[in-house]
Amino acid sequence: MLFDTHAHMDDRAFDADREELLSSLPGKGIGLLMNPGCSLTSSQNACALARRYDFIYAAVGSHPDAADEVDAVVLEEYRKLCKGNPKVKAIGEIGLDYHYEDIPRDIQQKAFRAQMALAKERKLPVIVHEREAHEDGCKIVEEFPEVTGVFHCYSGSAEMAKWLVSRGWYIGFTGVLTFKNARKAVETAQAIPLDRIVLETDCPYMSPEPFRGKRNDPGRLYRMAEKLAQIRGLSVEEVQAATMENGKRLYRI
Ligand code: NI
Repeated sequence: MLFDTHAHMDDRAFDADREELLSSLPGKGIGLLMNPGCSLTSSQNACALARRYDFIYAAVGSHPDAADEVDAVVLEEYRKLCKGNPKVKAIGEIGLDYHYEDIPRDIQQKAFRAQMALAKERKLPVIVHEREAHEDGCKIVEEFPEVTGVFHCYSGSAEMAKWLVSRGWYIGFTGVLTFKNARKAVETAQAIPLDRIVLETDCPYMSPEPFRGKRNDPGRLYRMAEKLAQIRGLSVEEVQAATMENGKRLYRI
């Protein structure tokens, strides 16, 4: 069985067939699934899904795209969602995204720091979204040595991944790993210890080959496992077992 360590099943893209899709996942080899929040509303929806499905866990947090909503009231709502809910296993997804910059960098950094502080307080791991912000992302990581977690949909260098791993972090790979031009992701997947790698779909985005550009869903995670097995010279079964263990260790399940 596989662990989809990052799947947005609360996304609108699944409104028409969410229940049908979720019910079909155990039969498609998905044993566990982490649904991170992207905003307060999305975090509440993730928690509701985790309550209804045994194999689903939730994380709560505001994505850099929603960083401007993060204030004391929202942080208190996240605190409440964590307390007394054993299915909430992480704070996320949080971080920095300098690609579009619809939200100014200083607001993104402030929200990232506030949610890292919440993770420290709640003693929970974090799910970090970091795009084109490698330097500032690592700087904030260094400010919170007690907090670790996963850099999801990893887009940094192999060197940076080794640095994160040395500090106790995990690295998440999506369908990007299967793209023809995925040199950096493949290099990173070769360079770091197997016990620090987790697999994710980041659905409905990031569909692997040969489904690139289509709506992604957790049933396609096997493509990432096949590719990682090829990269590391392992059997698909070995990759399944290792990444399942890693995901459980990461989220303390
Ligand atoms: Ni995501």
